[in-house]
Amino acid sequence: MISIAVIGTGYVGLVTAVCFAEKDFKVICVDKDKCKIDNLSNGIMPIYENGLKEMCESNYQRKKIFFTTDIKYAIENTDVIFIAVGTPSLNSGEADLSQVIEVANEIKEYINNYKVIVNKSTVPVGTQKIVKSIMKTNKNNINFDVVSNPEFLKEGTAINDTLNAERIVIGCDSYKSEEYMRRIYERFDSEKLVVSAETAEMIKYASNVFLALKVTYINEIANICELTGANVIDVAKGMGLDSRISGKFLNAGVGFGGACFPKDVLAIYSLAKSVGYEFKLSKAVLEVNEKQKLKPYEKLMEVMNNNLKGKTIAVLGLAFKPGTDDMRGAPSIIIINKLLEKGAKVKAYDPEAIKNAKKIFGSRIGFYTEVYETIKYADAIIILTEWNEIKFMNLEEALTLVKNKLIIDGRNCIDSVNAMKLGYYYLGIGVPDSSYDNILSKEVAVDYD
Ligand code: UDX
Repeated sequence: MISIAVIGTGYVGLVTAVCFAEKDFKVICVDKDKCKIDNLSNGIMPIYENGLKEMCESNYQRKKIFFTTDIKYAIENTDVIFIAVGTPSLNSGEADLSQVIEVANEIKEYINNYKVIVNKSTVPVGTQKIVKSIMKTNKNNINFDVVSNPEFLKEGTAINDTLNAERIVIGCDSYKSEEYMRRIYERFDSEKLVVSAETAEMIKYASNVFLALKVTYINEIANICELTGANVIDVAKGMGLDSRISGKFLNAGVGFGGACFPKDVLAIYSLAKSVGYEFKLSKAVLEVNEKQKLKPYEKLMEVMNNNLKGKTIAVLGLAFKPGTDDMRGAPSIIIINKLLEKGAKVKAYDPEAIKNAKKIFGSRIGFYTEVYETIKYADAIIILTEWNEIKFMNLEEALTLVKNKLIIDGRNCIDSVNAMKLGYYYLGIGVPDSSYDNILSKEVAVDYD
């Protein structure tokens, strides 16, 4: 049976490795970080991801997954090696390939028989060729293939996205490596698409940037809705009924964050530029998104007459989206920094991201693990992540705790009609805020008798 090594135990690497183990492959997981490897061997996950810990532990007990810092051992004892290391943005916006190149050099050093080397990390078009050219210099002239196999998992649903992927893209240039990849993925009941390596690399960027564009598009529509009195929630519903458009990724809000969208939008701009093409849309997406992140802050400033000095602001939700503890690119960072700059006191709630948020804000803000404690004595509530605990908070109970009945909902996620009925001043994104009568998006019973 094919044995697998996964190099890099970040989000993609760890989830991929655990899912291969779940599919009964023997998987060796490698990371340079000894502490991470020790923790993983003891069932301590470096990230919060629904179902990951349990699946990892059960496969560790079944001896299907191993964790080591010994990359030589992993390379020598496996057939297919997945590279899943980070490719962060350089100052220039380009993806930093140094970790990929470092791993490729190590594989070249320790290769002992035919291997399929698979790029799982999101890498610019042309990276398969770079890895190939490194591998070609291996001293014993051992045969190998390099494949591009991008990952499309979403944080929060990563396990399901991997085990039940909508598509598996395999970019390769030899029948032998295609056969290996098909044998691995025959255990996954997903649509498989075999293309050239360059095409696979481009599919990944084109997909992520398109989704970022879709979110940005609806955010711009939301901004126009605010100026015209239309309701973006209903607009998105109306658009989504057209199956060519689909309603997914049409939730207007405070802008996208995360580890992928911001980095990939930037990287595709640099990639295009490097081949003499200006990808204007991708640049616009980033500019609009950065502005969008400030929307709740701007709304608050307007209501508070530009004076936040000494005001207590409850920020509900810190992670860039629900279901994760990831703070990378989270709108909460830029908003909280602005609030602090203006002299406000910030009380922040998140069910999972507090540990990571503490690394960013330290003792500059108060952290709470309970919504109602957070909103006590608040002059305003700002919602930044649509966790269920926030979406379905008891607004009546909240009334007895807050100082001001002001809610700025950066995710349009709470029951705005109820909030207004209860007397809150409710401000969403792209929805009319002036009065209850203006909100058409909720089921308003109409009696035609
Ligand atoms: C994304 C891609 O979806 C995934 O395929 C890729 O492998 C990694 O990058 P992820 O970053 O986990 O996944 O998050 P995703 O669920 O795509 O959301 C990205 C951002 O867009 C979040 O900040 C989210 O809040 C925002 N978003 C998403 C919206 O604002 N509105 C929407 O309708 C959808």
